[in-house]
Amino acid sequence: MTAPLSPREDFLAQLVTATREGNLVKLTLGKARGPDATLRNLLVRPITLRGAAQISFVWRHERQDITKNYSLEAALELLAPLIGTDFHSAHLFTTTRLVQLEYNKKAEPRLTYGPPATGAPRETHDRAKKRLLPDQSQAWLQALGVTTAQSVVREGMADKHRQIHKFVEILSHLVVEANLPTERPIEIADMGCGKGYLTFATHDYFHLVANRPAHVHGIELRPELVRACNEIAAATGRPTLDFTAGTIQSAIYPALDVLIALHACDTATDDALAKGVQAEAALLVVAPCCQKELRSQLTPAPVLAPALRHGIFQERQAEFATDALRALLLEWAGYDTKVFEFISTDHTAKNIMVAAIKHARPARTAEAAESVRAFAAFYGITAQALARQLGFALSQ
Ligand SMILES: C[S@@+](CC[C@H](N)C(=O)[O-])C[C@H]1O[C@@H](n2cnc3c(N)ncnc32)[C@H](O)[C@@H]1O
Repeated sequence: MTAPLSPREDFLAQLVTATREGNLVKLTLGKARGPDATLRNLLVRPITLRGAAQISFVWRHERQDITKNYSLEAALELLAPLIGTDFHSAHLFTTTRLVQLEYNKKAEPRLTYGPPATGAPRETHDRAKKRLLPDQSQAWLQALGVTTAQSVVREGMADKHRQIHKFVEILSHLVVEANLPTERPIEIADMGCGKGYLTFATHDYFHLVANRPAHVHGIELRPELVRACNEIAAATGRPTLDFTAGTIQSAIYPALDVLIALHACDTATDDALAKGVQAEAALLVVAPCCQKELRSQLTPAPVLAPALRHGIFQERQAEFATDALRALLLEWAGYDTKVFEFISTDHTAKNIMVAAIKHARPARTAEAAESVRAFAAFYGITAQALARQLGFALSQ
């Protein structure tokens, strides 16, 4: 059993979590007891400097203020030894509450809570999404190394933690729009699921937040990851979550309502999309990456040639042409598509998400086919993995 945290340890854990998750509004340290008799208090707040998250310290002395800025981790390292020693009062203002650590005259600590601060944290886009996963999710978050036994986000895992929550937030909106079955459990596959972060999150979202029965299946090439995920699913009591070792191409699901494939490289995204379309899944959610397939085929208008001598533009163009063609093919196949930024590029460069929701209107119309072909012709695309698997002829 884990020993309960002391008030000071509890306060520090909450400081670490608020800082790493972008929920810190400010921290004030008072009742100075350190060696410098001129020091009154220390004000700490998050700032953004040249695009980077930093923590500003203002040391308030009797006659002057001294300001210094640090990285998040350096700031946390500096603060920990000061709290409860050099300062006997600490007020942590987060977006969700005020946490106060006060030491009395006998130097006994007491932790109390108050209402949240009104100031906005720096990273407003990420905050207050944490409730989309229940407390029970801590079991797998800890087992997968995202959080510690005290449910604090581990160093280096803050981006992954944010990404998991952002994904669940997006999923929660898409699920409302998609026509998912209510008379039987929803069948969900996460293809190329890797370590299973999003598979576990999806499972918990459906079962414990949305209260919708679902079977969630992960498929992954690497057997060691599959073994680890199945062990965690069993150990944490999730019988409706399973993982299979194998390729996306070979995956067979008798029914499929939701297809998820995030960061499945290159044409593995097409393989996953094709599985979803062929199964007539109501919702497809992919975040493509490594769009290599079309690079050698692209022959855009000559007017673009001087610009495209830059490798990065060629790369971006291949990403755009690949994902735009996929979206058009999905439209043709009977889906309404949305393409948007999944998460800020501060966290990952692979940030485009394509979501497709099956509609009831006639699919495979001549008009939709013409849009696909016109686009392919403009870029000189004659073959593409999703088109091939859907039996769509790009040129006629
Ligand atoms: C970058 S990871 C992404 C993992 C997870 N989807 C996520 O976003 O956290 C891509 C994973 O897809 C797996 N993968 C790539 N191609 C695959 C294929 N054809 N079939 C099954 N898994 C595949 C890789 O082994 C890797 O674990």
